[in-house]
Amino acid sequence: MIKDLQNQKIVIAGGTSGIGLATAKMLVELSADVTVTGRDPKKIEALHVSDPNLSAIAIDSNDRDQLTTFFSKFGSFDHLIITLSGAKGAGAFPELSLDDLREGFENKFWPYLQTIQTAVPFLKKTGSITILTASSTAARLPGTAGLAAINGALEIMVPILAKDLQPLRINAISPGVIDTPWWNFLSENDKQETFHQFSKQIPIGRIGMAEEVAQAIVGVVANNYFNGSVILCHGGLS
Ligand SMILES: NC(=O)c1ccc[n+]([C@@H]2O[C@H](COP(=O)([O-])OP(=O)(O)OC[C@H]3O[C@@H](n4cnc5c(N)ncnc54)[C@H](OP(=O)(O)O)[C@@H]3O)[C@@H](O)[C@H]2O)c1
Repeated sequence: MIKDLQNQKIVIAGGTSGIGLATAKMLVELSADVTVTGRDPKKIEALHVSDPNLSAIAIDSNDRDQLTTFFSKFGSFDHLIITLSGAKGAGAFPELSLDDLREGFENKFWPYLQTIQTAVPFLKKTGSITILTASSTAARLPGTAGLAAINGALEIMVPILAKDLQPLRINAISPGVIDTPWWNFLSENDKQETFHQFSKQIPIGRIGMAEEVAQAIVGVVANNYFNGSVILCHGGLS
């Protein structure tokens, strides 16, 4: 695996935090040539200082012109990983704000699709695309119908895109509950209580770490026979 990823050019859209950043660090250790993107210039600046082996560039994946300009300048590359997050769309359906759910699609579904469309002309045919969805699609927990709709819409496209984009590979990693800054909208106490409640429903007995999902992503990127698959990484959450 180490040999296969050495000097490979990899872009991680939404790689300045959480699962994307953990993946970027793992790939740099495997001697890949990694560029991460994100919107917040402060996170980009901080990465320039803390991780000088990582290229970090401010791009908003909601802005098609920014993506087109970035990929045109960046040129040919091997692998695209998309870990952009959109944090809206959770809640019990009778009270779920459909404006929030619409915002959830705006923040995740559409940016994923336009990142893929603008990147594909520059991706080597021997390379791959790996997208991060969410195992709300499989866990069927109350209050997650909206999140499952956003992520399910992406997951259902994966095997079809494997045909449309062939021989380029495309897969999804579908994580369960993972301790990342995604949860920082909660106070520390509420976050710990939420994690505690989820842990009781996870056969492994705890929530996951960003590094564990990063291992799954790196495995799928490196293994040339993974294609058109949605891979759960959720500790058995159901
Ligand atoms: N953590 C979990 O429990 C969990 C569970 C299931 C699924 N997931 C999925 O896993 C993926 C990664 O989540 P995470 O927990 O690592 O989230 P995170 O820590 O919030 O990181 C999200 C990253 O995406 C970037 N981003 C968001 N919108 C962007 C945009 N429009 N353009 C460019 N960058 C953007 C953020 O940077 P900026 O804010 O600076 O743009 C950040 O780097 C997401 O798709 C999430 O839905 C997470």
